[in-house]
Amino acid sequence: MCGIVGYIGKKDTTKFLLDGLKELEYRGYDSAGIALLNQNKIEVFKALGKLSNLENKISQVTIDSYPIGIGHTRWATHGKPTELNAHPHLGEYSYVVHNGIIENYKELKEELSSKGHNFVSQTDTEVIVHLFENYYNSLNDTKKAFENTIKRLEGAFSILLISKADPEKIFFFKHGSPLIIAKGNEENEVLFASSDAPLIGFTQSVVYLEDGVGGIASAQGIEFLSDNYSWSNLPTSKQFAQKDGFRFFMEKEIYEQGTVVSDCMLGRLKDEGICFDEIEPSLFDGVREIKICACGTSYHAGLTASYLLERLAKIKCSVEIASEFRYKQPLLTNDTLFIVISQSGETADTLEALKMAKKAGLKSLVICNVDNSSMTRTADYTILTRAGIEKGVASTKAFSTQTVVLWMLALYIGKLNSHLQKEDLDKEILALREVPKTLIVSDRIHEKTRRLSKRYLHGHGFFFIGRDVFFPLALEGALKLKEISYLHAEGYPAGEMKHGPIALADPELFTIALMPQNLLYDKIKSNVEELSARDSTICAISPLDFELADDFIKLQKTDHYMLEFFEMLVVLQLLSMEISIRLGNDVDMPRNLAKSVTVE
Ligand code: AGP
Repeated sequence: MCGIVGYIGKKDTTKFLLDGLKELEYRGYDSAGIALLNQNKIEVFKALGKLSNLENKISQVTIDSYPIGIGHTRWATHGKPTELNAHPHLGEYSYVVHNGIIENYKELKEELSSKGHNFVSQTDTEVIVHLFENYYNSLNDTKKAFENTIKRLEGAFSILLISKADPEKIFFFKHGSPLIIAKGNEENEVLFASSDAPLIGFTQSVVYLEDGVGGIASAQGIEFLSDNYSWSNLPTSKQFAQKDGFRFFMEKEIYEQGTVVSDCMLGRLKDEGICFDEIEPSLFDGVREIKICACGTSYHAGLTASYLLERLAKIKCSVEIASEFRYKQPLLTNDTLFIVISQSGETADTLEALKMAKKAGLKSLVICNVDNSSMTRTADYTILTRAGIEKGVASTKAFSTQTVVLWMLALYIGKLNSHLQKEDLDKEILALREVPKTLIVSDRIHEKTRRLSKRYLHGHGFFFIGRDVFFPLALEGALKLKEISYLHAEGYPAGEMKHGPIALADPELFTIALMPQNLLYDKIKSNVEELSARDSTICAISPLDFELADDFIKLQKTDHYMLEFFEMLVVLQLLSMEISIRLGNDVDMPRNLAKSVTVE
């Protein structure tokens, strides 16, 4: 998730922009930049890495006074983290900053290049400023040029644009990613930011722009190009603002899953199939098996993928825990594609496993959330999950985006090797399109998990049970609970309970049963009945009523088991969080844990 700031007024524009970008650092970034404009000059400063690098660059030059400026922190989605790819992006006489993904950037880039526009970056963003200038050069009207530009863009695009063609204005538009416009406390002052934090203390009234709303701001006022907006007050606490009003970053990140999964699918999920810019079909030439390697939650995503890859792509798939893989002297053959999954891209065991596979001559792919990480620099190919920074140590949105990427990859391979019939592919694509909606947290479900959590604060342990992909989901649910409540929990294949663990069954043993309607329901039902018959306390999660449940969380009915998977995921994440809150634990920073395990 990139960060955007903008300023019009009489203050020190450079200082406002830099301070504002500092308030957005918590969102994560790999580069930053600002552009400044006055009647005679437009200037830009960009730097890779931390904001201090940008500040150092700026401090080395004397800066005129600039009444207008825009700033940006970038989280790479298209194009490596480099200074050239950092925002703001320049045309001939205009700059733009952007948050989101332009799905049709390739077509626009070709069209504009054929008209003589020169592109210097690998980003999708750059097409915006060239498109604007292309229109302005023929229309000689900045408002019309901006409106025409917006009409041509597809995807998610929240933007600020400044131009020497109209040096007293900032052109703004919001679609997909958040963007706020504010009236400054000073006279004739207008502020912009992609979240509340940079604005606190500088304004009383803001507009949280809705999708499709844009306009033109200047010291003389704000012209909205639509009347779908309303003014509101701003929260006063920065800490509160950084969590967007949620109690914990983990809670915020659970609620973000619908949005970031949409970002994850942008430009990739098409009606005719799956498109990954980052890989070529030749990656799969000669590949007869996939081996996935990861740790923790990422390992659970890998396990989930193994079911989908064998079922949909008809390709053999094995999954390894990286710390085990490293020392087992594995047999590796070069007809195996080695896939590592990592939110951070820095997990030591996974990175070493990747290096082992590369040394053995295997082709490698990393599914990762952080570009320019050790793993993205080591693997042959990278597919970014685009989840934005994940601050909560307990992984949530990383898991859902990893699973969506891997589901899409299974469809990509299935179509490539013609194992997936068109009607089956269409069904999977229809289901994928529903995932973001499925991940939206309903008040009913959150309130239910909050109420239920008071009953699960003790006991001699939890079994999370499921079948098929709901077994790795059970593992993930158990890990979430362990991590943040410190209660003992195990994820287990439901069919395995009678091979020993059922000996533990008694009223103090809490069984969280994942009971999807669309996959092996009768099997899981009989497993749960066996436990209930032995007086285990059952919490059933299902779209179907289940009389024997002591507690029951009812899901909405869907026609695809993966939609049940994602709806159950949210329930498990919330239940763990609400139990942890009741126990008074630090949800975001649980004891003994680190966000990225960079040592063995
Ligand atoms: C998950 O909630 C944990 N934070 C942990 O298991 C994590 O998934 C694991 O350490 C792997 O991290 P990675 O995805 O960054 O490689």
